[in-house]
Amino acid sequence: MSQRKTLIRGARVLGGEPRDVLIDGRTVAEVGASLDAAGADVVEAAGSVLLPGLVDLHTHLREPGREDSETVLTGTRAAAQGGFTAVHAMANTFPVADTAGVVEQVWRLGRESGYCDVQPVGAVTVGLEGRQLAELGAMHESAAGVRVFSDDGKCVDDAVIMRRALEYVKAFDGVVAQHAQEPRLTEGAQMNEGTVSAELGLGGWPAVAEESIIARDVLLAAHVGSRVHICHVSTAGSVEIIRWAKSKGWNVTAEVTPHHLLLTDELVRSYDPVFKVNPPLRTREDVLALREALADGTVDCVATDHAPHPHEDKDCEWGAAAMGMVGLETALSVVQETMVDTGLLDWAGVADRMSVRPAAIGRLDGHGRPVSPGEPANLTLVDPAYRGPVNPAGFASRSRNTPYEGRELPGRVTHTFLRGQATVSDGKLA
Ligand code: DOR
Ligand code: ZN
Repeated sequence: MSQRKTLIRGARVLGGEPRDVLIDGRTVAEVGASLDAAGADVVEAAGSVLLPGLVDLHTHLREPGREDSETVLTGTRAAAQGGFTAVHAMANTFPVADTAGVVEQVWRLGRESGYCDVQPVGAVTVGLEGRQLAELGAMHESAAGVRVFSDDGKCVDDAVIMRRALEYVKAFDGVVAQHAQEPRLTEGAQMNEGTVSAELGLGGWPAVAEESIIARDVLLAAHVGSRVHICHVSTAGSVEIIRWAKSKGWNVTAEVTPHHLLLTDELVRSYDPVFKVNPPLRTREDVLALREALADGTVDCVATDHAPHPHEDKDCEWGAAAMGMVGLETALSVVQETMVDTGLLDWAGVADRMSVRPAAIGRLDGHGRPVSPGEPANLTLVDPAYRGPVNPAGFASRSRNTPYEGRELPGRVTHTFLRGQATVSDGKLA
């Protein structure tokens, strides 16, 4: 049987000059001008930008345990719709992904979904309780091959546990991804601590709660000689600490979410819980510092922190609402709006921050590769000229808690290819 071929015609590869890209079976066969379309499905891509398939380091898929908000299947469908070909599934499920058994279950569900690759993240501590190291080695050696460990949603606040985790993962080149939040400094916190929280009378979440943990952990990573990754960096001060740690040559990487690149704590004045997220939306100055840090590489990558919640947990008063927002299906549009259309990053930069670097941090094979012959055909085609309002009713995610409902954003993913197979075609899931 002959293998399926697809010719993507006239796409701007990484935003460069138009090229034809021939996919043969699972791989990129040729990149050139006026390639022969014989026997191939043709995708007319004039004006569109072709990127390596996006990779998310931080996705909450909720399965097992909270299938009312998302499942591996619905979450990977949302990922494909957003142009992702691989996601890292966070460990704060029920049960927690703190054993080889649970990470293998998530990994297997990912293989069955077929919409994108799912790389499970393992918990650092048993039950995310911060007291006892989880079986990191067994999770690494399992079929899931876990290399990223995180208690995300909670901070590994005990310095000795953090040190032991960094020592442990060093043996197999793993990484600890820290949700940096000093718990005592954020007790009862509801939003960013600043002028808006003072006016609204809501408990404040000071920047120092994030920055003090980051400072401690970059020092610990240097001391141990291991890798630490900082999740969802949200303050200008955090950027300064990471910049300093990198200037020392330490093995520190960091991510920023799309919402922290666009939204500010002014939105909390609406008391709409759709804006309630951890870490909280910060100030305009923080947003601008984060954009600059992503542009200059101090912050390595974008990660969605896709955090689906059912409407019962979000359509309630601010104080009772769950924290988090969905992000997979709008991530690329928000990055185009905040980074590309502002001139801070070109499309090659987007490929680097949303595919190459997250794949490298997760040590993920076959993703974040150049668009070149012989490489796996994990590809995303985006129409950057599109502009339109976000419509959550059209989401593939099981949840609808987006802060962008009705907001006009640029860019639309028209096609996503996972090893040559279209998971999204003409904007629709395959
Ligand atoms: O807003 C958030 N939601 N931040 C986190 O760290 C966890 C996440 C969730 O699991 O809902
Ligand atoms: Zn987190």
